Amino acid sequence: MQKFIVTGGRRLRGELALQGCKNSALPIMAAALMCRGECVLTDCPKLTDVYSAARILGCLGCKCSFEGNTAVISAGTLSGTEIPEELMREMRSSIIFMGAMLGRAGECCVSVPGGCELGPRPIDMHLAAMRKMGAEIREDGGRLICRCPDGRPKGARITLPFPSVGATENVILCACLAEGETVLNNAAREPEICDLCSFLRKCGADIRGDGGSSIAISGKESLSGCEHRIMPDRIAGATYLSMTAAAGGEMILTNACIPEMEPFLSVLEQTGCSIYAGSGRIFLRSGARLRAVRDRIRTMPHPGFPTDAQAVLMAALAKADGTSVFEENIFDCRYRHTDALVKMGADIQVLGKVAVVKGVASLHGAKAEATDLRGGAALITAALAADGVSEITGISHIDRGYEKIEEAVTALGGRIVRR
Ligand code: EPU
Repeated sequence: MQKFIVTGGRRLRGELALQGCKNSALPIMAAALMCRGECVLTDCPKLTDVYSAARILGCLGCKCSFEGNTAVISAGTLSGTEIPEELMREMRSSIIFMGAMLGRAGECCVSVPGGCELGPRPIDMHLAAMRKMGAEIREDGGRLICRCPDGRPKGARITLPFPSVGATENVILCACLAEGETVLNNAAREPEICDLCSFLRKCGADIRGDGGSSIAISGKESLSGCEHRIMPDRIAGATYLSMTAAAGGEMILTNACIPEMEPFLSVLEQTGCSIYAGSGRIFLRSGARLRAVRDRIRTMPHPGFPTDAQAVLMAALAKADGTSVFEENIFDCRYRHTDALVKMGADIQVLGKVAVVKGVASLHGAKAEATDLRGGAALITAALAADGVSEITGISHIDRGYEKIEEAVTALGGRIVRR
């Protein structure tokens, strides 16, 4: 089991190019499964979740190869429609292969993605939407056997009870090759949805309205391939900016997606950091001590404050002057990092969906275990701001979403070693 040894107390300074976005690459890889021509994805991040998606593609008969940050996927002919349970369990977002397979082959056999990392993550909205599009879904010992009786899904009018990112992606994928038109209301508006749709449009899909809450899709007979550059990862960006804000110092983030990061940047600016953003670059300078954020930080669907940035910002605010209050509205169990932050000397009280963070004068190094991806990144953030040495275990969670995080932190002058 690998771990990170982080020596805190050093100001950060440097320049970093933002990696490609995990949450955009994964649905786009699922979409490539629907394309008869070759798909070339550039800026594809090298992450364990991306390799899990590649294994799923492989077991369905697609060719998938990587060279540096370019992935080449060929799904000319498929050899099967069944995804083994162990592959489904490697990655929770494997469920988006359901819509892609139903679109491409009219059938699939998947399983309920396992685990309980961020609280219950049901797939009821995914199943209801696929059923509305004509799929018959039978559950058999944790396996979901899905079939469109006419061999092809049908367009439908669907209104999601909540703008779920994954359910929106599943509907879009399935609808692109369905018969007729689909209208999806209360769709998620996350930037990654727009990136998926722009990829699909290049492949010949007819999608209108993405980025808004109503999306219309006219199904096509087939999709071609294309070359597509994966958008930059706004959450990785938020993470590295939070690290510099927490440890003190200054940095430039290049290849940044500025409008997409605005909901995060506008909150980070309230901590007293100077932020200048333009032409794909974000400059941040952290003052002597961060200020607490006065207004409650409420995680909300985009364009609200992103739930994925809650933990890293909380780590930065642990040493701020004053009290900050978080309200987590997306996931039931997304404060698991707080125990480790408290071990490092933070003063954090969690009451249901609310976390009250009273800024302390200093944090100290500690042994801590990462229990999820963003929570793990928060532990590194706090460790960089802490006096002394921290040992962070459970780092396979962190490798799911951050490409060579230790190299990125080292480029900023932070001291971190993987052992
Ligand atoms: N939900 C349901 N039923 C459903 C689907 C979702 O109740 O059928 C609930 C979930 O339990 C959750 C809420 O709706 O409480 C939001 O879930 P959503 O479906 O929007 O999230 P997701 O698609 O599972 C994606 C990202 C997450 C990110 C969320 C919210 C990917 C691969 N994952 O998850 O990213 O937090 O959207 O923005 O895109 C991460 O990168 O660390 C991560 C967890």
